[in-house]
Amino acid sequence: MRRLEGKRALITGAARGIGRAFAETYIREGARVCVGDIDVARARRTADELGPMARVAELDVTRQDSIDAAVSDTVEAFGGIDILINNAAVFTAAPIVDIERADYERVFDVNVSGTLFMTRAVARHMIGRGGGGRIINMASQAGRRGEALVAVYCATKAAVISLTQSAGLNLIRHGINVNAIAPGVVDGEHWDGVDARFAELEGKAPGRKKKEVGEAVPFGRMGRPGDLTGMAVFLASDEASYIVAQCYNVDGGQWMN
Ligand SMILES: NC(=O)c1ccc[n+]([C@@H]2O[C@H](COP(=O)([O-])OP(=O)(O)OC[C@H]3O[C@@H](n4cnc5c(N)ncnc54)[C@H](O)[C@@H]3O)[C@@H](O)[C@H]2O)c1
Repeated sequence: MRRLEGKRALITGAARGIGRAFAETYIREGARVCVGDIDVARARRTADELGPMARVAELDVTRQDSIDAAVSDTVEAFGGIDILINNAAVFTAAPIVDIERADYERVFDVNVSGTLFMTRAVARHMIGRGGGGRIINMASQAGRRGEALVAVYCATKAAVISLTQSAGLNLIRHGINVNAIAPGVVDGEHWDGVDARFAELEGKAPGRKKKEVGEAVPFGRMGRPGDLTGMAVFLASDEASYIVAQCYNVDGGQWMN
């Protein structure tokens, strides 16, 4: 039996990477999925490849007008939204003394404000139509502790964990379960960028940082987007209805709490 039969999901940042894997898996489990992304050309290609159960919303999670338009377009096209995954995020790394205010604001805007105001918009819809829903936030092991060169990104992911707790406690009275997933290191274009940045910051050869982080994972390798899809389906399924305001590590054993 398909576990998300008839459900309607909006996934931010789903044009590529982990969000795309979520979209593909949700469709396989019977859901219709709106691929919301700022990279609309890539989102269109992704939705074409995913087939008729996928649609596209041009979405910049830092702009309220864009959030409102994407949510109302999705509601109109699907008749409602049952699941939101706040997956869109950007990365930055720098020593404390080199952090630029504009970069700090850009990263907080996408990762934290984007998560909060997407949650607000979709929660308003879910409360208005009744019947509850599911909201899944993408945190990170980076939100569990600081890293010397990654202060801003780590702080955004700690904020995502905190927002998950507060929104989870506030929204469960409306039947909306808010939870989070904290991946470790997941290979893909995001990590290609991280590797390139660490090559600059630490003078490492390209590919070296990836090799080191992969070897440090107790499981024995970096994660792949497909390692995260089981948790994303479970948290959206009926089996998870008593789970509220939690953040689950899916990281090959890197973090325990
Ligand atoms: N890859 C990892 O190692 C890893 C580890 C821990 C947590 N995560 C988290 O998982 C999530 C997905 O990661 P990924 O590796 O697939 O990242 P990715 O960089 O491959 O994909 C992010 C997507 O978000 C989109 N996006 C960026 N800014 C946006 C905006 N303003 N509005 C809408 N869309 C926007 C991008 O266009 C892209 O398609 C992120 O929240 C990330 O922080 C990733």
